[in-house]
Amino acid sequence: MANSATPPPPVIEPGRSATREDVVRLLNTVLGLSVEMMNADRGVVIFREAEKYEIMASKNFPPDKTPTLEELSASVIDKVINTASPLLTHDALTDPRFDTSASVILHQITSIICVPLWNDNEVIGVIYLDSRMNRQRFTEDNLNFINIFGRMAAIAVDYARSYGELYDEKQRLQTELRTSWTFEEITGRSARMLEVFNLMRRVMNSDISVLLEGESGTGKELVARALHYNGPRRDKSFVAQFCGNLSENLLESELFGHKKGSFTGAISDKKGLFEIADGGTFFLDEIADISPAIQAKLLRVIQEGEIRRVGDTDALNVNVRIISATNKELKAEVDAGRFREDLYYRLNVITIDLPPLRDRTGDIPLLVRHFLSRFAEKNKMPVKKISPKAVQALSNYAWPGNVRELENTIERALILAEKDTIDVADLFIPEAEALSEKPKSLKDYEREIVTKILEDCGGNKTKTSEILGVSLRWLHYKLSEWKKTQNT
Ligand SMILES: Nc1ncnc2c1ncn2[C@@H]1O[C@H](COP(=O)(O)OP(=O)(O)O)[C@@H](O)[C@H]1O
Ligand SMILES: [Mg+2]
Repeated sequence: MANSATPPPPVIEPGRSATREDVVRLLNTVLGLSVEMMNADRGVVIFREAEKYEIMASKNFPPDKTPTLEELSASVIDKVINTASPLLTHDALTDPRFDTSASVILHQITSIICVPLWNDNEVIGVIYLDSRMNRQRFTEDNLNFINIFGRMAAIAVDYARSYGELYDEKQRLQTELRTSWTFEEITGRSARMLEVFNLMRRVMNSDISVLLEGESGTGKELVARALHYNGPRRDKSFVAQFCGNLSENLLESELFGHKKGSFTGAISDKKGLFEIADGGTFFLDEIADISPAIQAKLLRVIQEGEIRRVGDTDALNVNVRIISATNKELKAEVDAGRFREDLYYRLNVITIDLPPLRDRTGDIPLLVRHFLSRFAEKNKMPVKKISPKAVQALSNYAWPGNVRELENTIERALILAEKDTIDVADLFIPEAEALSEKPKSLKDYEREIVTKILEDCGGNKTKTSEILGVSLRWLHYKLSEWKKTQNT
């Protein structure tokens, strides 16, 4: 049963960002009230976007027909927008200020009220009400009232838009807070990881562009954040944008922003992420997939520190440190002609290679302990133990999803294990893929032993070759061979 005391639904439901539909809904409410209070025949709210008029809301037009501008007095609307002042005419049929449009005559419209809609100091549209001969002659009082109403409506529209922007910003900050990123968060003592830490320390305090290469789930984003939050830009924003399989237009407007009216739906100016990242760090994830047009724009940001919003002629200066990441070999994309060579060299002043987890299995027990205590804390559970057999199974598995997959496996096991010690059965990792199930070749053993000793020696190759009784040259040769196979 309808209850007249029920408040109208909020224009923007709490907990989500405002959309164009929200703004249109708000305008319809405002217009409905205006028509009712003025006892007008019909009403519209018109926005001007990029020299074009668009009807955003309408009242009392035939329900099956969307109103068109031809049915209104175009010269009245033009006049209000161009003079930025409200207008009242008592007799549109004979008022010499306006060419009388066919529709005005046809509908016997006599009275028109039209007031500007403001956004800051700019007229962005009008509220237009009209009335037929025998209905109502609008008065100066009506005009003043609706003019104030127009100002209030504009504030509401602006509020709805800012609400959307603030909501998005809040979401961004919350994700940032959820994950406080420190260097210590990156777990690993294997030679490969020590190499990573070493490089990170060397580039941390500089502004040079870093390219992170590695399979998915190897910790590229973690490293990017650690570089930002341990470096001189830590008090400014860290902004991350995923660039893989996004449409070119969307990505371009995300990165560089757009001018109001530069395309349908661009109802206001929008800041690009490069502007938001100004002074801070921009993390471009899955960089290999960006289109040639965006590659060119990116080059401009790096070379000149300049960006241009879509649809804008003026450039803005930004100062951002760029860290990019890819799970492809970017040089191969350059060789195949899909990625600009000049941009490649700009992004890749230094490359940090994140090793796949299967190449640093020595770190697995450490990672397991790290995740066990982290997830116990997160889920407010006591820390569980893990059986040596389970650790063995984890160390033998190939981890195609790398650390991310290990992380998920541990969280699931922690929650599902019924006893206070996690066992092999709680892990649910595909037995068939466990390396231990496959017979190993002599080469596999050779690689395993060398890797193990190298790790025990903290990456020291001279010491490793001494222990193994091989020449340093042989060790270098083997390591480079293995590095090649790992990239295929
Ligand atoms: N060395 C590491 N120590 C601890 N956690 C890690 C490590 N590497 C990756 N992770 C975790 O694994 C998940 C995937 O890492 P992420 O940085 O998103 O990988 P990528 O960007 O390479 O796909 C994240 O939850 C991250 O915290
Ligand atoms: Mg990632």
